[in-house]
Amino acid sequence: MSELKKFLVKLKGYLKKRTPDQRILNRLHTQEIKGMIFKVGRSKSSPFFLAYHPDSYFAFRAHPEFDELYPRFTAHNEVNNGGDSTRLWAFILNCKQVLAEGIQGDFAELGVWRGNTASILAKFATSANRKVLLYDTFEGFKENDLTGIDAQKEMDFNNTSIDLVGKVIGENNANCIYVKGFFPDTITDDHRTRQYAVVSLDCDLYAPTKAGLAFFYERMPKGGIFFLHDYSSLHWNGSKLAIDEFCKESGEHIILMPDKSGSAFFRKTL
Ligand SMILES: C[S@@+](CC[C@H](N)C(=O)[O-])C[C@H]1O[C@@H](n2cnc3c(N)ncnc32)[C@H](O)[C@@H]1O
Repeated sequence: MSELKKFLVKLKGYLKKRTPDQRILNRLHTQEIKGMIFKVGRSKSSPFFLAYHPDSYFAFRAHPEFDELYPRFTAHNEVNNGGDSTRLWAFILNCKQVLAEGIQGDFAELGVWRGNTASILAKFATSANRKVLLYDTFEGFKENDLTGIDAQKEMDFNNTSIDLVGKVIGENNANCIYVKGFFPDTITDDHRTRQYAVVSLDCDLYAPTKAGLAFFYERMPKGGIFFLHDYSSLHWNGSKLAIDEFCKESGEHIILMPDKSGSAFFRKTL
């Protein structure tokens, strides 16, 4: 039996027998077969996911941040994020690129939930001595947003707290500013005076996505980046509509990513 076949049989055995276990996933994501390193994980939609890590990581041992961030990215969210290392790599590579190009500004996320993607932003913001503004109700969706295109969506994401997010983010928490409450009502004069180099919008619904694009785009220098989750996932048509309207009005163009939940992103060019 080939090495690869042996590995797949072993992996299947693990996943059949066991409930998701962080220790196993941590070990598997760096499984090495004949000099090849694969990333492995679970997701809701497929029993496991197997793909190469980037050559830069395997062949040249670049981006060691992956090893610290994979456990944070999957903490309390293993089923959804365990097999979505494409998304984690997109954040790592692009945050580093924006910083390497010297794009000025703080980082921000609207839609934090348990802090999985916030932990990535916090890591790179801290490395460059920037702040990360983390906007969320930390109590899930609010009724006010569940209207129009989102009227049939269910209340969700109330199972979190700032305390939990702080633990997921860990030592980089010192550079985080938590903004608790209903966005955009929580925007302060201090937030208005800042520039934003990296913004993650992951709030699922039309109204906050629309408001987030308007607020942060105006305060982003050219070359800054937006990560827009769920654009092509087909789960969140309100968020997609807000992004489509924004692109039409601003003239910016998104690029779609082949990650689990259809992220898109764009770097400000205009
Ligand atoms: C999909 S979750 C975010 C997931 C997160 N980025 C991660 O890494 O797992 C969506 C979040 O958006 C938040 N949210 C949605 N609408 C909001 C609003 N108007 N103001 C503040 N937070 C909002 C919800 O509370 C929820 O925590």
